[in-house]
Amino acid sequence: MTPEEFQEKFGIIGESSAMRDVVTKVMQVAATDVTVLIGGESGSGKEVIARAIHGASNRSDKPIVAVNCGAIPEGILESELFGHQRGAFTGAVESRKGYFEIADGGTLFLDEIGDMPLPTQVKLLRVIETGEFMRVGSSSTQTSDVRVIAASNKLLEEEVAKGYFRQDLYFRIRSVSVYIPPLRERREDIPIFVGKFAREFSDRNKIQFGGFTSDAVETLSGLEWPGNVRELKNLVESIIVLERGKKVDSDSIVKYLPKNEMMYVGESTSRLLPVHVDKTPEESERELILRALWEIKNDLVDIKSVIGSGAVGRKLSLPIPQPYQTAEPDPGRIQDGAELNLREVEKHLIKTAIEKFHGNKRMAADALGISMRSLYRKLQEYKLKDV
Ligand SMILES: Nc1ncnc2c1ncn2[C@@H]1O[C@H](COP(=O)(O)OP(=O)(O)O)[C@@H](O)[C@H]1O
Ligand SMILES: [Mg+2]
Repeated sequence: MTPEEFQEKFGIIGESSAMRDVVTKVMQVAATDVTVLIGGESGSGKEVIARAIHGASNRSDKPIVAVNCGAIPEGILESELFGHQRGAFTGAVESRKGYFEIADGGTLFLDEIGDMPLPTQVKLLRVIETGEFMRVGSSSTQTSDVRVIAASNKLLEEEVAKGYFRQDLYFRIRSVSVYIPPLRERREDIPIFVGKFAREFSDRNKIQFGGFTSDAVETLSGLEWPGNVRELKNLVESIIVLERGKKVDSDSIVKYLPKNEMMYVGESTSRLLPVHVDKTPEESERELILRALWEIKNDLVDIKSVIGSGAVGRKLSLPIPQPYQTAEPDPGRIQDGAELNLREVEKHLIKTAIEKFHGNKRMAADALGISMRSLYRKLQEYKLKDV
């Protein structure tokens, strides 16, 4: 099979050299039973590649079972993977097969493996190495013949360094690793994606499609696409539904771009955007941050009252968050008497969190309850890059 035929067969779109490299590597390993680790940002096509590997293997007549390790609560993941005996825990009224049994003879796709809890990682390593596992609540060993394909949008080396991911498991699963670059690093594929997604979607739903102007395709090709191919596909499909039959130009595309993409189209355009009545993710995030600030304020009140600083204590007990006292003007801190606006509060809080965790951005993002991506975006937005 040629790479083109392989792509056609498994619906893998893309002619960039990055995509061709991925395909070549995947074709070489598909027929083996080797564990494959697929890296890449969310929406970049990791699952598409995993399914192609399974489809091209001699296990293709058996199921591929996909499990999102990040979406299943910690206590439940283990029994989902390995099954459980009746009475193993409250609510386990019946014995149940786990995915390792269900996928026997086939492939198990472990998505977001970086989110797997450490104790489960131990058991996973065992089953990969020996094929043996035990149902939760059982003391007898079972075997299963499963090929594991793992995917992660986190850099597993970093997770290993931080102690969140076992090094032995990492070494075991990365024997073959495939990295899918973000869409913004293979922009030459964007027009191809747009064309194929548009045609596929309009055919499938019998919606007339008027086509994109070359301007429109150029605009789409220039965006950052933090949500990668998934985001592009969703956008193309919404445009086709809402612009029924019309020729889509660059101006009409701008209407459909979410705020995070608008940042890249340019400051001036984003200010022209209508104000949304519904809460955007950013607004909800701000609310969360305000709430966190409120809690910090309460902590401060406690601390101050312990120290016994009467004047400041009275001031802080006011029912609105008060600016902090700082000795020197510092652009990263809220000035006493300055108007307290959400942006300042947010900036201050991010700076505080990063300082608190000595520059560890992941811990800071966790503490703030926002994603790493949002944190990086905000660091850029507030020019806090070097904190
Ligand atoms: N190379 C590609 N060819 C065709 N469709 C793709 C490609 N990459 C991603 N997609 C589509 O984009 C969406 C997200 O892909 P997915 O594999 O789920 O990404 P990930 O697992 O990395 O989050 C899916 O709808 C998928 O079909
Ligand atoms: Mg996925």
